Amino acid sequence: MSTVPIPTPIPTPSARALIAEAHAQAEAAARAAAVTIRELTEPSDLGAVAEVFTRIWALEPGQSLMPTGLMRVMAYEGCYIAGVFDDKNGDRLVGAATGFLASDVEPCGGIHLHSHITGMLPEADGRHAGFAVKLHQRAWALSRGLRRITWTFDPLVRANAYFNMAKLGADATAYLVDFYGDMPDGVNAGQGSDRLLMSWALDSARADAAANGTRNEPENEESLLSANQVLLSGIAPGMMPDPAPPSDFGGPLLCATPAAIQDLRREAPELARRWRFALRGALTEALGRGYRITGFTRSGWYLLEQDLDQDLDQGLERDEENERR
Ligand SMILES: CC(C)(COP(=O)(O)OP(=O)(O)OC[C@H]1O[C@@H](n2cnc3c(N)ncnc32)[C@H](O)[C@@H]1OP(=O)(O)O)[C@@H](O)C(=O)NCCC(=O)NCCS
Repeated sequence: MSTVPIPTPIPTPSARALIAEAHAQAEAAARAAAVTIRELTEPSDLGAVAEVFTRIWALEPGQSLMPTGLMRVMAYEGCYIAGVFDDKNGDRLVGAATGFLASDVEPCGGIHLHSHITGMLPEADGRHAGFAVKLHQRAWALSRGLRRITWTFDPLVRANAYFNMAKLGADATAYLVDFYGDMPDGVNAGQGSDRLLMSWALDSARADAAANGTRNEPENEESLLSANQVLLSGIAPGMMPDPAPPSDFGGPLLCATPAAIQDLRREAPELARRWRFALRGALTEALGRGYRITGFTRSGWYLLEQDLDQDLDQGLERDEENERR
């Protein structure tokens, strides 16, 4: 029988420095967004979080992605529930994030935070409050000896792919087909629920650089486009997905995502569904051939690479870095 590993506390003093830096980075991001982020435990506050999620995911009033009672017990038992309050507008709740402790045995083991829902109301758009709340979550987790946060997101949503991979420096570790089954909310209904599983190595150099504002963006987009190393095209608004498996399956590949999938779902749901199946087909085929999703470009391409030697090197480097801490 397998046992659940107990998290290894991060050794001091470099760990203390990392935690202090993570808090400072989170506070700087919150200041820049003009928001205050705080943990919530009281039923009335948690009810307000449930309402914010209801609005973001266009649910019927009274329906909820996260019932208040569930959030109450999660908060009581030390899980992560935080509200994002608008400093410019009377401390109004404009977003929230929730996560629970999770464990796995493979591939790297350990207890970590699974961030279940993070959402900002449209009125917070453009202020980067989402970045601030993820940095708050990172500092919270590191303070508790956790080194990893996982979450899932819809791989068709460009903004989220860019946010997760380029702004936060998280890794895509699995493609989960129709993960939640048929979802009834106003954003996902009838569109399948494929998700990418993200894993954020909180004490990695990449996460630290991301928290300081460095982008993790692929630099070879132009050269791959000129060499036609494209697995799926259709990057411009309104285009049909066009699968075009390259003859050379050894080198790096680009895979397109649709422009503004949320608009397509409202205005052209059949095209949106085509994109779901096309992206699923392209990504699962490449992953099946040993590729990994290693980046996302600002213009909407996933970068896929197959470089086992480099993986091994990076894994060893990370192990050595962790040993030193
Ligand atoms: C995902 C979410 C939390 C991110 O928060 P946010 O405050 O928008 O995040 P940020 O502004 O810090 O970062 C988003 C980045 O994506 C960029 N972006 C937006 N649309 C984009 C697009 N179509 N293509 C590429 N990048 C895009 C933004 O410009 C920004 O980058 P920038 O800093 O260079 O301007 C927020 O957008 C949200 O709540 N979305 C709805 C709910 C949701 O999808 N939640 C996640 C799944 S649980």
